[in-house]
Amino acid sequence: MLDTSKIKLDFPILSRQMNGKGLVYLDNSATSQKPQTVITAITEYYMNHVANVHRGVHTLSDESTHLFENGKTKIAHFFGAKKQELIFVRNTTEAINGVAYGWGEHNLVAGDVILVTVMDHHSNIVVWQELAKRKSAQLIFVGVTDSGTLDLIDLEKKLEQFGEKVKLVALPHVSNALGTVVPVTKVVELVKRANSQTRILVDGAQSAPHIPITFTKIGIDFLAFSGHKMLGPMGIGGLLVREELLKTNEMQPWFFGGGMIAEVHESHTVFHDDINERFVAGTPDVASVVGLAAACEYLENLGMQAVLEHDISLVNYAVQELAKIENVILVGPNFESNSLLNSDIKNPERVGSVSFLYKGVHAHDVAQVLDSQGIAVRSGHHCTMPLHTSQHWIATTRASFQVYNSKEDVDALVLALKKVREVLL
Ligand SMILES: Cc1ncc(COP(=O)(O)O)c(C=O)c1O
Repeated sequence: MLDTSKIKLDFPILSRQMNGKGLVYLDNSATSQKPQTVITAITEYYMNHVANVHRGVHTLSDESTHLFENGKTKIAHFFGAKKQELIFVRNTTEAINGVAYGWGEHNLVAGDVILVTVMDHHSNIVVWQELAKRKSAQLIFVGVTDSGTLDLIDLEKKLEQFGEKVKLVALPHVSNALGTVVPVTKVVELVKRANSQTRILVDGAQSAPHIPITFTKIGIDFLAFSGHKMLGPMGIGGLLVREELLKTNEMQPWFFGGGMIAEVHESHTVFHDDINERFVAGTPDVASVVGLAAACEYLENLGMQAVLEHDISLVNYAVQELAKIENVILVGPNFESNSLLNSDIKNPERVGSVSFLYKGVHAHDVAQVLDSQGIAVRSGHHCTMPLHTSQHWIATTRASFQVYNSKEDVDALVLALKKVREVLL
């Protein structure tokens, strides 16, 4: 386990009192808190280095450009990607929209198929519904098994059924509602075996904070992530695109403006040859890039393997303890009580969060009682209405973890959940 008592001190907000109690922040899948190093990096940039990048010859502009480019190098390295494969966006949602506009618009024709999953976040559904409408394409859902995992048999069946029409498979690495880890390597194998030309997009919103990722090695084409869920600032995220798709222009810019151009004429524009520049339309959010680079550094200093192990042991502990509470029904991989999950660190079944139903009580009421005890959790459908509908759940309550959470935080949650019964039933 990580030394959480030391780590907690790095996050100023965690010393706050909440409703008369010490804050227990368990809403990390929605957004994570920020360490002092990230806050300082942003403040330092605004206090000492502000200037527009790439465009000036003066020293401040040089400093700002250096911080931006250095930050980009660090962030790409964190994801095991080449620098030119990283396109900055505001968040996962914008990254997925980027694939729809920069790739989908140019590569889909009527009748083509996009495969997503029933457990996807709305951001990885609505974008494709809209693209499918524009292109007269079909959006097909791959199911989820009774034990909360991706139904690989259904995936195989649909890959076979739609054959070469399947142009894109877009799926989450980790479900934000179930904590399920999708076996990406297996998915890549199935998809590429069915058609080597099918592109794969992984929504890494919930995996980037917990799982070491080497983009160039996993055989996918796109990876979307949000900085704010991985200790970084809000308003910065990334889309990783396999270099070949950029070099061949299969993936094209979808925002246009200054910065990305080589020449502009009244009749036409020639875009930058350098891929690193071609997707930067307008002034980038330098401070947020600097802040996200500091977040990556913070996680790297802890070690992503240690971060993953910490998360898995917290998730296991939470599953074990929550399963003992009367009226709590766990959802997600392996619903059986007291069974330890994720024992195989290389192939964890669940990371990041534990969601549950509370018999006879709406999730919002559960969350409100927990809030009165200083515990922040999320309740509702977690932007996964198709999943909730398929399971006949109105709403679930989710506790989600980060590097600063400890077993004591889980104990506090368990204790407060016992109060739900006293207060509401
Ligand atoms: C799996 C998943 N995908 C996408 C998103 C959207 O992320 P953002 O709101 O940062 O764009 C989330 C947010 O919770 C998520 O959990």
